[in-house]
Amino acid sequence: MTVHIGAKKGEIAETVLLPGDPYRAKWAAETFLKDVRLVNEVRGMLGFTGTWNGNPVTIQGSGMGMPSLSIYVNELIKDYGAKTLIRIGSCGGMQPTVNIRDVILAMTATTLSTPSRGIFKEVNFAPCADWSLLQAAAQSAASRNLTPHVGGIYSSDVFYDERPDLNEQMVRHGILGVEMEAAELYTLAARYQCRALAVLTVSDHLQTGEALPSDQRERSFGDMVEIALDAAFA
Ligand code: HPA
Repeated sequence: MTVHIGAKKGEIAETVLLPGDPYRAKWAAETFLKDVRLVNEVRGMLGFTGTWNGNPVTIQGSGMGMPSLSIYVNELIKDYGAKTLIRIGSCGGMQPTVNIRDVILAMTATTLSTPSRGIFKEVNFAPCADWSLLQAAAQSAASRNLTPHVGGIYSSDVFYDERPDLNEQMVRHGILGVEMEAAELYTLAARYQCRALAVLTVSDHLQTGEALPSDQRERSFGDMVEIALDAAFA
């Protein structure tokens, strides 16, 4: 047990999928894994461990935003020995070429700041995905007839953004989408020699104002879970 995770040692797999929403963790575990058991419910941040094609997998909610994700990922890596951590989540599309429901594989994540900002002082660290996971996820998406966008995303600290000028600069520099967690995941993975990737579905679009209807979110979410599982065990 840790401060925020109630699982016993050995109840968390080396491969962890991280949706922001704990109920998505429940849905994904019950839909895609076998022999599923609940391993965490501290603060309602549900985590489940089961198997996929015989491989142990944990699906743990991370909450919204980098401070929340940072707590779970620190404990998963340092206390439970997680080695491969894949965020599965939604993002806002930022480029005209990116459509609702498209999958984005985040090669890098730009930020104003992460919870790790303090240790870098004047350095702007460049958080990036693990290449083996990125490559395997791109292959998995292609095999499902999905054409993923692979490139940079923006990990913002705010959903209700009061700085449209920042988004403009992101768009201008080719950033594909905006979410709120990947940069800290990549930074922690780098620090502790783990593999990390963020697989994202475009749920809304900042330029067109479109949003994915709730009944279609589950289906798109399922594609991400399968891509993440394929990549983890490629
Ligand atoms: N902003 C930040 N995070 C998000 C968004 C957004 O528009 N959509 C999904 N996650």
